[in-house]
Parts: sequence; structure tokens; C-alpha cells
Amino acid sequence: MAGKIIEIRGVSKQFKNAQAYAVDHVSIDVSRGDFITIMGTSGSGKTTLLKMINRIHELTDGNIFFEGQNIHDLKVEAYRKKIGYVIQQIGLFPHMTVAENIAVVPKSLHWGKDRIAARASELLSLVHLEPAIYKDRYPSQLSGGQQQRVGLARALAADPEIMLMDEPFGAIDAITRQVLQDELLAIHRKTGKTVLFVTHDLHEAFRLGDKVIIMNEGRVQQYDTPYNILFHPANGYVAKLVASEDIIEKLKVLRADSISTPVQVTPDGRVPRVLANAPLSAVLGKFMETGAPQIYVEDAQGRIEGSILWNSLQSIASLRTEGAEYFV
Ligand SMILES: Nc1ncnc2c1ncn2[C@@H]1O[C@H](COP(=O)(O)OP(=O)(O)OP(=O)(O)O)[C@@H](O)[C@H]1O
Ligand SMILES: [Mg+2]
Repeated sequence: MAGKIIEIRGVSKQFKNAQAYAVDHVSIDVSRGDFITIMGTSGSGKTTLLKMINRIHELTDGNIFFEGQNIHDLKVEAYRKKIGYVIQQIGLFPHMTVAENIAVVPKSLHWGKDRIAARASELLSLVHLEPAIYKDRYPSQLSGGQQQRVGLARALAADPEIMLMDEPFGAIDAITRQVLQDELLAIHRKTGKTVLFVTHDLHEAFRLGDKVIIMNEGRVQQYDTPYNILFHPANGYVAKLVASEDIIEKLKVLRADSISTPVQVTPDGRVPRVLANAPLSAVLGKFMETGAPQIYVEDAQGRIEGSILWNSLQSIASLRTEGAEYFV
């Protein structure tokens, strides 16, 4: 079912004894299947916004609708089971094994034992942890990255409608982080889940989000595609935020599918291909290497999703043909 899954209407939060709003009149629509990243500096209200969506915090002002219903009118326990929440600290239960951690929500939904065990194995495989090796371990017997994978599996366990992820990869080294980002993108493509993903890392926000919310001091500064945020910042704050990114950095954080146009073609072996997740800097490299006027964008199964014309890449990057390889 397409359409809006979450509507946030004029939502504010003012904590007791606080002078300023932690979240200040935010209005956002989230469509089903969107992958949205929320980016902002520390204290900008990201966690507070997620916690209001999950009904951990009451709203001071405004309304949030989930599938058209005001979340205030829903039974909180039933509502929360439709939401997978990955919290800012890893938050696995230390006294439970990996499989028991994953089983928490399915158990509360009274699933049978076999179904729960099968689901745990399926999810561990999905996040690339061999079930036989990991299911009976305790969180303390896992690396930070492995714990994050279990956290992700746990949040997915009961097949929630929406995933709220609060800096899930914050404490992970850069290489593992990229692996986890790629896995999350693959899971998103596979499951079509709606994801709201908080980060204070600009690159992560652009790499993952189909749309990005830039927050500052509780307010939404811009809610737009990575492309528009980079090339058409809505105000001085956003312009300053992205100004430090030079053109090649911008190409590195945009995915090939952010500028490709859908095509239905009979595959032509002469046209070079790149993966949908590939950064535009790699697409530029491919154009340079092959001299082709067009490149196909394909998914992990090799299906062609779209195409990028050299002219369109050249115009967004304002690149001159000569000397461009210098940047790659
Ligand atoms: N329970 C609370 N009581 C009082 N003030 C709070 C509470 N939780 C958050 N705040 C305040 O609300 C503001 C927004 O906090 P929030 O946790 O939403 O920020 P954040 O964007 O998630 O930051 P970070 O990137 O550091 O996690 C901050 O000024 C914070 O001090
Ligand atoms: Mg936070």
C-alpha cells in the first residue's frame, strides 16, 4: 500500500524547566517505503523526535498520525509493536542470548516456539551472522558491529511497519560502518520497510537517505533529496553545512541512483554498468575510463534500473571534460 505512513503536524516538545523547545514546530510527511535520514548536530532534537513518534515522550504541541490515525488515540503497546526501534546505545539485554534478544517482540505477540526460532535464524542470516555460531552467544561475546547487527535483527523481528534507528552505527569503525550501511540498504531494498535513520554524520545521511531531514535547534532546516540539499540548500544554515564539501566530496556521497533516470531497455553489452549504490565519483571514473556517453545503473541482481547520461553528470558537477580525471 503506497501513501503516507507517518504525518507529523506542527509537533513541538518542551521539556520541563527547559527554556527552549527541544523540537520546535516540526511538520513532516513520511511515505511508505521511504528511507529517510535525520541529520543534525548534538542536541538538535533528533532523538526527541524519534521518541515522540514511538510515544516514549508526550508531545507538547501538534499531532502525529500513523496510517491516518492519531497515535495519541492508539493503544501504546499495540502501536509500538508496529515499530522497530534501534536505540542510540546498542541496548541488547545482556542476560539474554542473541536468539532470546531477537525473540522479545515475537514472544510478546505469542508466536509459537518453532516460528520464533525460524525467524531468529532467518534474521541472523539476513544481517550476515551465521545462526549456528551466534544464536546462543551473549552480547558480551560479540564485537560492537556484531551487536549492532543483532540490534537490527531484533528490531526487524516482528516485521514492523516502520524502523526508527537512532545513530545505530555511531560507535562503529569506518570500514565496518560502510559494510553495515550497505547491508541496511540491501535490507531496505529487499523488504521495502520505511526507515527513519538518525545520524550526525553528513556522509552517512546522504549515502543512506532517499531524503534527508536537516535539523538545527529543534527545527527542520530542509527536508529534501541529498542532491537538492547539496546543490540547492534551502537556507544559510544548510548552505554553510554543505559548503565544506567540495565537488568531488559531493560526488562521493551521492549514489548513482540519485541521478539516474528509469529506462526499460534490451540490455546492450556495449554500455558500461555501475551498481545503484555506487558513488557518483565512481560513475565519473567509469565515464572517464570508457569514454561512453551513457552508463546503465543496475541492482545487485544485475537488473538494469536506469541510466545516466554523461551530459547530466557533467552538468551537475559543472565539470569540464579536459582535466576531469584529475579529480577522480
Ligand atoms: N528527558 C529530557 N529532559 C530534559 N531535556 C531533555 C531530555 N531529553 C533531551 N533533552 C534536551 O532536548 C534537546 C534535544 O535533545 P536530543 O536528545 O533530542 O538531541 P539529539 O539531536 O538526539 O542529540 P545527539 O546527537 O547528541 O544524540 C537537548 O537540548 C537535550 O538536552
Ligand atoms: Mg540523540
